[in-house]
Amino acid sequence: ANGAAKAGKSRNILEKMDETDKNCVVFYGSQTGTAEDYASRLSKEGHSRFGLKTMVADLEEYDFENLDNFPEDKLAIFVLATYGEGEPTDNAVEFYEFIGAEDISFSEGGGPGDKPLSKLNYVAFGLGNNTYEHYNSMVRNVDKYLTKLGATRLGDAGEGDDGAGTMEEDFLAWKEPMWAAVAEKMGLEEREAAYEPVFEITEKPELSAEDDTVYLGEPNKNHLEGNQKGPFNANNPYIAPIIESYELFTTKERNCLHMEIDIAGSNLSYTTGDHIAIWPNNAGKEVDRVFRILGKEDKRHTVISVKGLDPTAKVPFPSPTTYDAAIRYHVEIGAAVSRQLVSTLAQFAPSDDVKAEMVKLGSDKDYFKQHVTDRNLNFAQLLEISGKGQVWSKVPFTFLFEGLVKIQPRYYSISSSSFVQKNKISITAIVESLQKPGAPHVLKGVTTNYLLALKQKQHGDPNPDPHGLNYSITGPRNKYDGFHVPVHVRHSNFKLPSDPSKPIVMVGPGTGVAPFRGFIQERAAQAKAGQNVGKTVLFFGCRKKAEDFMYANEWKQYQEDLGDKFEMHTAFSRDGPKKVYVQDKIEENGEELNKLLEQKAYFYVCGDAAHMAREVNTLLGKIISKYRNVSGTKGEEIVKAMRASNQYQEDVWS
Ligand code: 2AM
Repeated sequence: ANGAAKAGKSRNILEKMDETDKNCVVFYGSQTGTAEDYASRLSKEGHSRFGLKTMVADLEEYDFENLDNFPEDKLAIFVLATYGEGEPTDNAVEFYEFIGAEDISFSEGGGPGDKPLSKLNYVAFGLGNNTYEHYNSMVRNVDKYLTKLGATRLGDAGEGDDGAGTMEEDFLAWKEPMWAAVAEKMGLEEREAAYEPVFEITEKPELSAEDDTVYLGEPNKNHLEGNQKGPFNANNPYIAPIIESYELFTTKERNCLHMEIDIAGSNLSYTTGDHIAIWPNNAGKEVDRVFRILGKEDKRHTVISVKGLDPTAKVPFPSPTTYDAAIRYHVEIGAAVSRQLVSTLAQFAPSDDVKAEMVKLGSDKDYFKQHVTDRNLNFAQLLEISGKGQVWSKVPFTFLFEGLVKIQPRYYSISSSSFVQKNKISITAIVESLQKPGAPHVLKGVTTNYLLALKQKQHGDPNPDPHGLNYSITGPRNKYDGFHVPVHVRHSNFKLPSDPSKPIVMVGPGTGVAPFRGFIQERAAQAKAGQNVGKTVLFFGCRKKAEDFMYANEWKQYQEDLGDKFEMHTAFSRDGPKKVYVQDKIEENGEELNKLLEQKAYFYVCGDAAHMAREVNTLLGKIISKYRNVSGTKGEEIVKAMRASNQYQEDVWS
């Protein structure tokens, strides 16, 4: 049951391509929108440079039984992100299971015997993160399955690495030889590429932004009409009341927020360890910047209708709406701008020298890194700086709506227990201050700053909005009144053992402690209810005991509830002359830790993926090797096996 099926649309990709006269489909498996963005860029580039008749397709919206009939003179492109522990993205689960199945059955008409896909020509690019164990496993496996089934890959299977921070450059470097291979195989000639809009905007002077048929950020009709209906999910968030919000600590650079979100009556449910998605809107300050740099301030509240010029082009927001609402609620204007986008912006430059600058930025990757990436410039900031203050009036709005990523919800590890509070979800989030030396332009944390603004409003803080971010905290038509936020729940595999008497060990420095507050809250309640609760060990780290030791009083309460079952080890990195990290505490307690693991304790790590989680992983291997008296390699193997059997679980981010 998904969008396409509900709308009565065909799930047959071959039919769809015939009907819409396409010879190239770009499928995407995307979780956070990047793969979808790359798919859309490949689709546009294939069309503008090589005259391919392209379309973009969400993997979830099609069936694949007839892939064996995919015509030889057409092309399928797969852009596949790998999620978490080598999992497919939510929208690629069915495709992945289908294509990897042992006894796969295609419709007839395909290639002979064990090569049913021998007619299929395809291209593949993967998005992954090398700090995770199963690096780019989606694209690697899909590529392997397709090849085994007889399909022919054009070019290399590309791999982008978010861990090394080279995703964009990996993608750009991969696609040139890929296009050359495609052009040769399909007999395509490269042509001079010019911007061709995919969307069409019609201004509606007869409508006013006040009319109640005009969307002002509402995701769908039910929301517009003021009666939101479930099921609530990634396509239909729930506007949830915020019951409580306060700061766990506040320093000059950072605020740490605790929020309680009410899901009673929504039919949303969660279990301890799940994630909650929060839908942000863009800071008013950044929305203003976009209109100012485009010289389109007078257009802000003009009502528009936006349509795809082609039936396969999906507009990522409903119409009629206003330019302001579309940009504020639906376009990711705060994200880092890509080098490819900068290249295509050159044609709209306000003067020849600015155009030359854009061409240089687009073609010289070191120059781009130095001037754009390292300074964290977003779209409008880039235009401001490279345009030397000139207005970019030639950039069409269609270019923004097509070229910038659609706004994505942010996921937070839930910090409450569903056993204790089934209808209330708590989150624990750090809000980074705006400006960092050396990167004066970065707006950190679109969503956390939005949540902080909500908190400030709710509490009537005397000095709200010190950075002048000017969020629309009441939402469209003042519907959210400052005490609501759009959410949905994402279920995770990060779970307590079903038997509470099993021992657990948790490692969660900083906000990495969030899910463990939920875990411990749960175990404390179970102990109070008379259940037999196993050893519950937490390694926590923060900067200073007196500064950012979150939930300090709660831990004391849990200690009382759990008695000697609860053991907490703290590492305060900036209190003494020398840094102390959770790893140091783990090492000190290595012998006991090893014993617990031998008793099949579950081991959990949450927080920073790139450094902390990696180092903990390595350290665990060493501890096992030391106390079990086995080789280092054997220690590593044991850790690997623990991961494979889910005894070792991670909820990490980069
Ligand atoms: P630091 O910022 O003083 O270096 C929560 O952010 C805590 O995690 C802080 O005390 C922080 O210390 C610490 N931290 C930073 N890098 C870490 C790493 N690689 N491993 C473990 N903890 C780390």
